[in-house]
Amino acid sequence: MKILVTGGAGYIGSHTTILLMEAGYEVIVFDNFSNASKESIKRVEKIVGKDITLIEGDIRNKEDLQKVFQSHQIKSVIHFAGLKAVGESVEQPLKYYDNNISGTINLCEVMTENNCKSIIFSSSATVYGEPKTTPIDESFPTSATNPYGRSKLFIEEMLRDLYISDSSWKIVLLRYFNPVGAHESGTIGEDPNGIPNNLVPFIAQTAVGKRDYLRVWGDDYNTPDGTGVRDYIHVVDLAKGHVKALEKIDTFNKVMTINLGTGNGYSVLDMVQAFEKASEKKVPYKIMPRRAGDIATCYADPAYAKKILNWEAKRTIKEMCEDTWRWQKQNPNGYKDNE
Ligand code: NAD
Ligand code: UD1
Repeated sequence: MKILVTGGAGYIGSHTTILLMEAGYEVIVFDNFSNASKESIKRVEKIVGKDITLIEGDIRNKEDLQKVFQSHQIKSVIHFAGLKAVGESVEQPLKYYDNNISGTINLCEVMTENNCKSIIFSSSATVYGEPKTTPIDESFPTSATNPYGRSKLFIEEMLRDLYISDSSWKIVLLRYFNPVGAHESGTIGEDPNGIPNNLVPFIAQTAVGKRDYLRVWGDDYNTPDGTGVRDYIHVVDLAKGHVKALEKIDTFNKVMTINLGTGNGYSVLDMVQAFEKASEKKVPYKIMPRRAGDIATCYADPAYAKKILNWEAKRTIKEMCEDTWRWQKQNPNGYKDNE
């Protein structure tokens, strides 16, 4: 069975491709390499011991997509392709709306034309905005504070409308909490461009000596130690959630919206400590003012994923830090040394 993975060369897509291939699916990776390296695919091939069909193309270009659907019988699409830098989305909103929203419209049109109506979409816990309470379940109200978040919300709504217009569509919206970690081989992982915005890549680069110290964005939140609390989830657990969703997708008779998180919240300082232990390196930090747009606490109620997908995150914070460290240590410059 052929599965099209858009954005399959990226961080979450490459880990998901491994699990899909290990589960026996035939995977077509489609990526424009705007935020990925071909080296990641080479390494995935090495891990699974098989060649991957890789198609270089852009979801904003219908011809690129048509070629894929005309030369392959695609059963389902796992749609990771998108831009994800919150700060950049504030500076260049049209770039985000064009890439994420126009790209998804193109994809759905080409899917419809080729009678492929099965899609798993990468949404984000960012759609919960500032939640009134935690843990957060799927019925919580949604809102967005930046163009990136809004692009996720709009796409969710667009896919719901698509289902209303044609209930033969099978649609799963997966809302990820904070993906971290790397494949246990240490050969693939997150390879941020420039200075990392997210916490764990920044900690990892500090531990490896690429950054002098971590800036902790605020220690005056209403949390146990005053720093922000998040639900960090191992990327391999997250990837497994997609395989489970794919196994079940044909049985769904409504649009499924599902949190993928662990249900545990850890603070910035918890993460620093766990990383120091895993890496046996010091992670110096300085407390700074709060970062605009940040919230105090965010963690999932993962019960629905357990019930519907028979999935739950298994890997601990220790494994998340150890696996990130193995990747960071073996690849201090990410994939760049091999490009
Ligand atoms: P990533 O940047 O590593 O992967 C995205 C991939 O999509 C990249 O390989 C990029 O080259 C490709 N891409 C982007 N625009 C494209 C286009 N127009 N055509 C073809 N390919 C294109 O990001 P990731 O962390 O793997 O995230 C995957 C998805 O999950 C994204 O949609 C992201 O918004 C979403 N998400 C990520 C996180 C996170 O923290 N990493 C959290 C919630 C949701
Ligand atoms: C961020 C994005 C969110 C996106 C998610 C995954 C913002 C405001 N939100 O979420 O939309 O879906 O990434 O890509 O950018 N921290 C530090 N120092 C750092 C980096 C982070 O103290 O250098 C703190 C933050 O204040 C936060 C926690 O670490 O409390 C996690 O931050 P981060 O990894 O950026 O994730 P989110 O803010 O949850």
